[in-house]
Amino acid sequence: MNNDNLTSVPHALTSSDRQIHYGHRGAVLWLTGLSASGKSTLSMALELALTRLGYSCYVLDGDNVRKGLNNNLGFSAQDRTENIRRVGEAAALFADAGLICITAFISPYRTDRANARHSVGQAFHEIHVAADLANCEARDPKGLYKKARSGELPDFTGVSAPYEAPEHPQLRLDTGNESIATSLQTLLDYVVSHIPISEGSRH
Ligand code: ADX
Repeated sequence: MNNDNLTSVPHALTSSDRQIHYGHRGAVLWLTGLSASGKSTLSMALELALTRLGYSCYVLDGDNVRKGLNNNLGFSAQDRTENIRRVGEAAALFADAGLICITAFISPYRTDRANARHSVGQAFHEIHVAADLANCEARDPKGLYKKARSGELPDFTGVSAPYEAPEHPQLRLDTGNESIATSLQTLLDYVVSHIPISEGSRH
């Protein structure tokens, strides 16, 4: 694509203006893990808990985003890369706007996650929701592992498509062996210490 004829338009607000407005910096909390590892449950619970503390945040969730913005994408490696590219760019805009953007996508490829980190910059936090395949398959809340094993659902992550676990995530949550409440508390403690909120913004 030729972008030679584009000129960036500066905002009238700086990132510190936005920080004062919201009481905290913008950030992206990028949750990655297998289907049924707990990404969506944790993300929605975190969004609620952070909002109660006075943070401004929003969850981008794979199943939801694939019903709208990305409804023209499937599960080939190429489509997953495009899915994550768009979500990385969208999350970067949320963070630039000053919000905490929580993303819940399998995002199975290291390179795609590295590109998302590159789009967002310093404010990107990679969080591995690390329940292993045996645990996720035993849960199978949507019956998708069963379909994948029977051959009804092709290219299924962990069964017939790869998952490349993060090597050095900022945080790893052992959702295969601990309760959601425990993982949520770990995540909440991480956010509060790494993205502090000013006293005046606390509810
Ligand atoms: S990603 O690989 O491109 O990051 P994403 O998180 O958006 O995936 O979507 C995953 C969700 O799509 C799963 O939670 C599941 O409900 C559904 N899904 C449908 N088909 C597949 C498949 N072949 N592999 C993985 N997830 C699938």
